Amino acid sequence: MTVKKLHFIPLLLAFIFSFNLLSAHEGMWLPHLLKQLEGDMQAMGMKMSAEDIYSVNSGSLKDAILHFGGGCTGSIISSSGLVLTNHHCGYGYIQSHSSIENNYLRDGFWAKTKDQELTNPGLFVTIIRRIEDVTEYALVGVHSGLSEGKRQSLIDQNLNAYKARIKVKSDEAVLFRPIYYGNQYIMIVTLTYTDIRLVGTPPESIGKFGSDTDNWMWPRHTGDFSLFRIYAGPDNRPAAYSTDNKPYQPVHYLPVSLDGVEEGDFTLVFGFPGSTQEYIPASGISMNKDAINPPRIAIRDTALQILNKGMRAAEKVRLQYASKYARVANYWKKWIGQNQGLERTNAVWKKILEQKEFRDNVHGDPQYEDILPRLDSLYGVLTPYMKASQYYGEVVQRNIEIFALARYMSTLIHRYLENGDEGFMAYRDRLIPAVNGFFKDYQVDLDRQVFAALMRMYAVEGDPELTSVELIQQFSSGQAAYRTDALFAQTLLTDQDGLIRLLEGSPEAAVHAFAQDSLVIWYDALSRTYGEKVAGPLSKIQDEIDAGMRLYMAALMDVTKGKKFYPDANSTLRVTYGKVEGYPMNDTTRYDYITWLDGVMEKYVPGDYEFDVPERLRQLYASKDYGPYGENGKMPVCFIGSNHTTGGNSGSPTIDAEGNLIGLNFDRVWEGTMSDLYFDPTICRNIMVDARYILFIIDKYAEASTIVNEMTLVHPKRN
Ligand code: ARG
Ligand code: ASP
Repeated sequence: MTVKKLHFIPLLLAFIFSFNLLSAHEGMWLPHLLKQLEGDMQAMGMKMSAEDIYSVNSGSLKDAILHFGGGCTGSIISSSGLVLTNHHCGYGYIQSHSSIENNYLRDGFWAKTKDQELTNPGLFVTIIRRIEDVTEYALVGVHSGLSEGKRQSLIDQNLNAYKARIKVKSDEAVLFRPIYYGNQYIMIVTLTYTDIRLVGTPPESIGKFGSDTDNWMWPRHTGDFSLFRIYAGPDNRPAAYSTDNKPYQPVHYLPVSLDGVEEGDFTLVFGFPGSTQEYIPASGISMNKDAINPPRIAIRDTALQILNKGMRAAEKVRLQYASKYARVANYWKKWIGQNQGLERTNAVWKKILEQKEFRDNVHGDPQYEDILPRLDSLYGVLTPYMKASQYYGEVVQRNIEIFALARYMSTLIHRYLENGDEGFMAYRDRLIPAVNGFFKDYQVDLDRQVFAALMRMYAVEGDPELTSVELIQQFSSGQAAYRTDALFAQTLLTDQDGLIRLLEGSPEAAVHAFAQDSLVIWYDALSRTYGEKVAGPLSKIQDEIDAGMRLYMAALMDVTKGKKFYPDANSTLRVTYGKVEGYPMNDTTRYDYITWLDGVMEKYVPGDYEFDVPERLRQLYASKDYGPYGENGKMPVCFIGSNHTTGGNSGSPTIDAEGNLIGLNFDRVWEGTMSDLYFDPTICRNIMVDARYILFIIDKYAEASTIVNEMTLVHPKRN
């Protein structure tokens, strides 16, 4: 007995110790609370102080970071408001300026003077002025006896009252965000600029090199960057687009390092990570892995195969579907990697072990003792609903395109029923361009195949209790293709001219026609069934889980001594830090931390839509003409690090120990995409473009030296 114990204790200690060590790079930290981590960061090589990263009173790194277009991150890299972000973040804007004559997607675009820069209506960037903890104001009067609804309205009321009291400039906005599942609240004061112009972008064959095949993969060779500029009014404050506007003068901008990276170098990634669920119990991870991911992967797999075949058969179809395909494939691939990573790291089992420690800690504590069993049983109840919502979401809302038109027409009917001709007209005016836009990139033949295959999956694999009986009866047997053909033959929705004619004609006649349309009827039936059988119960259970998670989070922070907790990502500004680091491919082989232009040339497939290489880049490679940006005759392209990032961190700057830009975050390695649920420091890596490759492309490839000249290039490693 004693012997056994003795064996066990060192093992256990080693295990616990490794936990603490391993969690060293995990975390997306609030920048105003970095003081607590300063020592750890400095021990890893950082030469800055917490104040250098975030300060309200003087310029700090945070003044150079911005939320780009609401979904990505960007950073300011010159004193004249030059913004660096990803190519895939600027994609839509670059596309909007592209035409057959000026094909900037294909050829790239470089404004060599400011008057060549292109304006982007609708694009905005948000700078964070300050962040404050407002928990004590938010939670006044809140107690555990309140229902979720009452709790929320009391908090809203408290925060509104607080907002009325605080002073901000008239162009600043005040936002409140819950963190730690609503145990705490923060206030964020922001400034949003809307005159944002395109300065430069490489061609897709650089900015999107490797496309879907290489997406989420390492080794990677993508120059995923683009450049914009912020323009401001005469007082440097936000102003609507005007030729009189001046380049924004930032409080701080990032110098760019010419010295590159080596394995082990300290890295800090600053940006706006979108969403993570790092604290859900093992049962929640299992639900994601076993119930949510498999159906959504399978549905997308089926849809993508059909689209892929169509795209390969005709160039026109390829162009029409390229962007849709990429969007669907992006998360399809991510979830596959996520599940593999969860398996490979034994994440569920490791969570169970961590929970064991927690359970021991709260044993006998009436407040916390039954929180985990309660959450487990709630996740059990939630699981079938979550699964059903994947089917509905993926089949009806996303992958069958024609249902988008059905949804429009259904809304049109409702507007008419509520507000008569006036309601119809108002909606119709928005609908007509949307309908025309829909048909611009639409192939009814492909959609018909997707419809038959996906409706069949929904009928056969969906939970019979949670779907419509009619669906199962009509699409589950060998009838799916036949039923689909019949529906597509009957519907008005596939006829663009006919639709527009109806929309432009009498409201009564249009509503009459749409209300009898077979696909509109199907859409309404499916969404009604979903609302009644799934959405209602799902949101009730989700509320209970939210309340449970709030208590669990509070308990974790309360009883786990010596551990620092970071709040899950929620699109607020965060700092994550780690090191430049490779990772194990398998037992015997390790991935290197960096890729080179040689690798681009190895992947080169002339004329291929994913792996073509522009002629000029091939020439520069042949002549090894890398200017000051190469390293020992080689040109670096991308590198990886152990920084904890997620969707939304795209475009985030990677910053060295002294505050200089060394890279541009744009992706994660496939094996580590489970980091949204479970971060394993041995294999979770973020992927960045090397800053030297960005400079090389701008300066040597595009010969846009005016752009490089406005940056501050530094040699931090030489001093
Ligand atoms: N996987 C990266 C992210 O989630 C890049 C996506 C853009 N590239 C693509 N091939 N779809 O956003
Ligand atoms: N590619 C992602 C983005 O667009 C980043 C990631 O998920 O790692 O934000």
